[in-house]
Amino acid sequence: MSFEIRAIAERDIAAFHAVLDSVARERQFLSFLEAPPLDQIRSYVLNNIENGQSQFVVVDDGRIVGWCDILTNTRKTIYAHCGTLGMGLLPSWRGRGIGRALIRRTVDAALGSGLTRIDLTVREANLNAIALYKSVGFATEGLHRNAVRIDGCYENVISMAFVADEAKLTGTPDDEASR
Ligand SMILES: CC(C)(COP(=O)(O)OP(=O)(O)OC[C@H]1O[C@@H](n2cnc3c(N)ncnc32)[C@H](O)[C@@H]1OP(=O)(O)O)[C@@H](O)C(=O)NCCC(=O)NCCS
Repeated sequence: MSFEIRAIAERDIAAFHAVLDSVARERQFLSFLEAPPLDQIRSYVLNNIENGQSQFVVVDDGRIVGWCDILTNTRKTIYAHCGTLGMGLLPSWRGRGIGRALIRRTVDAALGSGLTRIDLTVREANLNAIALYKSVGFATEGLHRNAVRIDGCYENVISMAFVADEAKLTGTPDDEASR
């Protein structure tokens, strides 16, 4: 298997937009049913690059076939340690271990940039994605009942998170004693 995972670059924007749009139009996985317009995606990606956000693409033989990003809300100081993950691959590249390599690379980059919590939401029927997230250390935090309505049908959404260094974050007895 020969594919490359690398940080997104300005030259990738149109191809990234096309992949995002294609996965969105499958209607089964993402929270939107088509990609935002290209000019919005351009600003979004350029902003992510400028702010050092963790956004990676998968390149196979020169073609962008997937993405994963973990984005912080830079305006909310008390949540500055948190990032939200989104990802997707074109159908022919699924089920070949690429998603696992891609999420590991992106999570490592996000943790390396100082994030300590990564959250995501996933539609309950998306069993492959849920299995992947669990297998790399995400835990389920909540069930959002009927959070999605698509073509007149409701679907539950699951929230999951990866929390780094939980003992340190929640405080240990030693921390309490030293206060
Ligand atoms: C979800 C997605 C990113 C996973 O990437 P992938 O490359 O298909 O997954 P991998 O081949 O790396 O598999 C990693 C793990 O995911 C799970 N998984 C992936 N495909 C699976 C399948 N067809 N059946 C069961 N489990 C599967 C397994 O736990 C697997 O681990 P294993 O191979 O050790 O059993 C990809 O399938 C995808 O793009 N789906 C559509 C878009 C989407 O759902 N995005 C996420 C929205 S929240």
